[in-house]
Amino acid sequence: MLCRFTEWPFARSPSPGRLSLRMREHAVAALAAGAVLLLLALLGGCDARGPGAEGAADVAAPASAKTVAATAQPDTQRAGAATDAPQIVQIVRVAAVDGGGQTRAQVYESVRKMTALGQQLFFDPSLSGSGKLACATCHTPSRAFTPANALSVQLGGSDMHQQGMRAVPTLKYLQSVPAFQEHYHESDDEGDESVDAGPTGGLTWDGRVDRGADQARIPILSPLEMGSSPQKVAAAVKAAPYANQFRGAFGEHIFDNADATFNAVLKALETFEQTPQVFYPYTSKYDAYLAGKTQLTPAELRGLQLFNDEKKGNCASCHVSQRARDGAPPQFSDFGLIAVGVPRNRALAVNRDPHFYDLGACGPERTDLKGRAEFCGLFRTPTLRNVALKKSFFHNGVYHSLEQVLRFYAERDTNPAKFYPVVNGKVQKFDDLPQRYWPNLNTEPPFDRKPGDAPVFNAAEIRDVIAFLNTLTDGWQPAAQ
Ligand code: HEC
Ligand code: HEC
Repeated sequence: MLCRFTEWPFARSPSPGRLSLRMREHAVAALAAGAVLLLLALLGGCDARGPGAEGAADVAAPASAKTVAATAQPDTQRAGAATDAPQIVQIVRVAAVDGGGQTRAQVYESVRKMTALGQQLFFDPSLSGSGKLACATCHTPSRAFTPANALSVQLGGSDMHQQGMRAVPTLKYLQSVPAFQEHYHESDDEGDESVDAGPTGGLTWDGRVDRGADQARIPILSPLEMGSSPQKVAAAVKAAPYANQFRGAFGEHIFDNADATFNAVLKALETFEQTPQVFYPYTSKYDAYLAGKTQLTPAELRGLQLFNDEKKGNCASCHVSQRARDGAPPQFSDFGLIAVGVPRNRALAVNRDPHFYDLGACGPERTDLKGRAEFCGLFRTPTLRNVALKKSFFHNGVYHSLEQVLRFYAERDTNPAKFYPVVNGKVQKFDDLPQRYWPNLNTEPPFDRKPGDAPVFNAAEIRDVIAFLNTLTDGWQPAAQ
């Protein structure tokens, strides 16, 4: 059942709250004991050949048995301190050697090696066709793994002049994104399982892949991005200064076959992306506030209230701001795929063709839901953790400041001419979504206003909400306040 995303620690399964709760309880126990915990009983029944599992199972050749293990690392950072949440657990499935299980020490060592390798791969431009583009070029660590520049979309390809069509999302807090489901049933402890929350989850803006390893394949192979091939990647790694480390982690014969090398690269990248202290540290001021370790300023508190208020921002209905019933820290997304009606970004090369539309879940990037009108215009709700570090917002990067985003939410329906083109005196509302898909647009607050109504937020309220959003940036230090 959980097989599709056991790679993402705390990932939600078809019974999401329960699984993450159990994992967290185990994590706490493991921590308390200062021990390493095997989750064999919990996850061992998974079929490693499930969708997208090849990266995990195929890199070590004689993978006749699977071992699922969790390694709890000592909490040397402030991470857990701010939240009491045990994010210091990594769950990694490793292909067992010779049909036997690995010892805990071996598993721990394997994760450590793969994480170190994944980090080097992440920063290595030689994996790209141009030799100039690393994962880190677009996913800059100091900006929560989003671009350092303010371009709506990044440039790549063999000449580094090809424009992508989507803004680069953060790589932080992806560990809780569940695998994509068309009908998601929330089943938190007392929740009503019969409520269909609609399409939810999956990686990328349209939720088209479920695992980090499969995701990494996309930019490496895309001609608009790293424009490489498994062969080129394998040759680059073989020639890299870390080639010996690579053999150490994946076996002497790992370079014998380019596909195996490539899968090992994807696996190492995926493992690196699960490093808790780097990718989900929960060290924001808001985490400290939830843990009762600091106060919010009056402006931040007002912003939080406006954010939560069901009749005002109602932001928290999608960008969840409260701890889950099991005490897990909020992710600031329910991972739902939603149509918000973001304006067309006329600066994008793809949009020079007036007939082209990026319709999110129904295509063209995503292909499995093609022709399913009810999925057109839907994009996955992003986390708002670290959103203040971003320089481009929404899937097409049309806005470049939080103030612009907030104004859009506040006045999209009350004063649409501010956001959409006006042709012959008529506002072209929702100009990036053909009219036949407008029934998909969300109509809950803050999207329930009419022209002439008061905006959802006034200027002062927008400032307060932004003050609150600024408390979601990791690395908050009490001393600095
Ligand atoms: C040219 C810029 C660029 C490069 C280089 C790049 N990415 Fe991305 N990344 C993107 C964009 C754009 C998206 C969103 C794609 C989409 O929605 O279709 C993305 C999405 C992702 C996601 C999914 C995030 C989410 O919110 O679901 C992951 C994980 C990821 N990238 C990892 C990587 C890794 C690992 C590498 C290196 C192998 C890499 N990226 C290289 C631009 C880039
Ligand atoms: C009905 C669900 C929903 C509600 C309510 C909602 N959002 Fe969003 N939010 C989304 C979705 C979906 C996106 C991505 C839309 C896209 O790019 O097409 C998004 C994107 C954003 C972004 C851009 C993040 C990024 O990384 O690009 C910000 C900032 C944001 N929302 C803040 C808010 C605030 C503040 C509120 C309340 C005023 C709010 N949202 C209400 C679903 C929602």
